[in-house]
Amino acid sequence: MFSPQGPTLRELAVQALSSVEHGYDLLAPKFDRTPFRTPDPVLDAVVRTVRPLGPFRTGLDICCGTGAGMGVLRRLCDERIVGVDFSAGMLAAAGSAVPDLPGGPAVEWVRADARALPLAPAFDLAVSFGAFGHFLPAERRAVFAQARAALRPDGLFVFPVPAPPRVGSGLYWALWGFDSVMRLRNLLWNPPFVMYYRTFRLPDVLDELAGAGFTTGLLPLSDLGRRPDGSPRCALVVARGA
Ligand SMILES: C[S@@+](CC[C@H](N)C(=O)[O-])C[C@H]1O[C@@H](n2cnc3c(N)ncnc32)[C@H](O)[C@@H]1O
Repeated sequence: MFSPQGPTLRELAVQALSSVEHGYDLLAPKFDRTPFRTPDPVLDAVVRTVRPLGPFRTGLDICCGTGAGMGVLRRLCDERIVGVDFSAGMLAAAGSAVPDLPGGPAVEWVRADARALPLAPAFDLAVSFGAFGHFLPAERRAVFAQARAALRPDGLFVFPVPAPPRVGSGLYWALWGFDSVMRLRNLLWNPPFVMYYRTFRLPDVLDELAGAGFTTGLLPLSDLGRRPDGSPRCALVVARGA
């Protein structure tokens, strides 16, 4: 799962016993060599699916980490792209990985909490990858409201969602086990490290987006394949300012 240049088990354990923010500060130098960075095939599939919905001038990556989504925005937006994260370590790594390039959109980084974004409504497109597990459902509503507030009136907020694992499958039990260990850890240890997989249920998420003022749709990320029943392995949530 991890390359030899990735974090050691000890480093991962220290990270998991820290707060989310400090944990990512510690992990940042090796984050791109972990499976937690959104993989390139997912990023490429999002670019191909979102491009026909443009053009976009300005883009925002919420919980940008080391800049995976900023690479997506660079390919879709031609004027200005902004990555937001609360981990200074992740932003430092992102700054090296996604430099300002001549002829491309201006690249900016903002250190902020996604639940309270210090941004004017200036964006045509907002993305977020791999971070919603860090928010409890009530906090997720705040993140969606902040995304809405940062977008122009008809701006788009998009993010990929994998199909849920079949009940009883290996992945189902792996995610169930991970969440149970996290809940136990958070009962016994402070500061909490919020990271749950099974709190992100698509019907709830679509309701919460509607509550934040979005109309929503789903597009298949067909490049990522289909399940035996023909449904896509991964879809893109497309939320538009209502
Ligand atoms: C799993 S990483 C994903 C990074 C990147 N988007 C990717 O797909 O590779 C989650 C990121 O969310 C950030 N994060 C978590 N909670 C946050 C919050 N409340 N405000 C801002 N950033 C947050 C973390 O610092 C981390 O960089």
